[in-house]
Amino acid sequence: MSDPMTPNPQVVGGEPGTVAVTVSSKGQPATYRHEPVAETPKLRLSHVSISYIDRAGQATEAVRDVSFDILNKPDCGEIVVFLGPSGCGKSTILKAIAGLLAPTQGEITVDGQPVTDVGRDRGMVFQAYTSFGWLTVRENLEYGLRLQGVPKEERRKQSDKYLQSVGLADFADRYPKDLSGGMKQREAIARTLINRPKVVLMDEPFGALDPQTRWGMQSLLLDVSRTEDNTILFVTHDVSEAVYLGDTVYVLSPRPARILHKVDVPAFPVHDVALKSAPEFRAVEKKLLDLLYSPAER
Ligand SMILES: Nc1ncnc2c1ncn2[C@@H]1O[C@H](COP(=O)(O)OP(=O)(O)O)[C@@H](O)[C@H]1O
Ligand SMILES: [Mg+2]
Repeated sequence: MSDPMTPNPQVVGGEPGTVAVTVSSKGQPATYRHEPVAETPKLRLSHVSISYIDRAGQATEAVRDVSFDILNKPDCGEIVVFLGPSGCGKSTILKAIAGLLAPTQGEITVDGQPVTDVGRDRGMVFQAYTSFGWLTVRENLEYGLRLQGVPKEERRKQSDKYLQSVGLADFADRYPKDLSGGMKQREAIARTLINRPKVVLMDEPFGALDPQTRWGMQSLLLDVSRTEDNTILFVTHDVSEAVYLGDTVYVLSPRPARILHKVDVPAFPVHDVALKSAPEFRAVEKKLLDLLYSPAER
């Protein structure tokens, strides 16, 4: 993982959000079929299944036969969203890609290389804030670069750039305790991006924020992702967030997570607050909701 200082993540219970998804077993039948591409993809999951085994030997199947390819698009950032209900296995999929847990079956590759451990080519932003409280915002940002032996001057240049892009330039010398919830998540995003991972894994990073802050963070993420050449895998259970951020949305089933549908989101010319109530935006939201609920339940 790009972020060697991140402490072991805890499974965070509960996922506060706005439009929660409750997928019905009576939803439309799965339409997704994995068709592996011939070229080497940036990220590939191939028949990945994951079960947790407790001390008594009892298995909880969290992920079942998940396969997808994310292609290399040079000089172009991309946001791929995984949309699924709470507890379906979204965090489990991200943790496996991060190398924090091994799939029970199947394989994960980045640029054709099997994932066996955490690595700098993948960076994760968690729902809960995970910075070092005793380091300043700038020191937190520069921590990974420092471990890599990047010289001080270059570290400073990079931290200036990323502090600027997430709007925290004035808070460089403050400590995490001085930051609001939204600012903390901006710091976490900058701290991950500064290491230039090929794949950025975001696990409901705005789930704990109030709606207004959350909307601001979504816009910021879109702006930042346009200037970076990396792929963001963004997990959420919020339909509106999925449509606003995603270039592609994979719709997941309840646990064990399977991919039911793949939906391409049209490229909206302008992303602003008005977009969320625009007919073309609402149409994609409705399409996702139609895939998630049976008509009788709406
Ligand atoms: N460490 C664990 N041990 C046992 N079961 C777990 C563990 N982590 C998650 N689970 C279970 O696996 C399922 C999927 O969890 P998770 O991936 O966190 O879901 P999501 O992120 O979609 O809410 C849940 O039913 C959860 O209770
Ligand atoms: Mg989760």
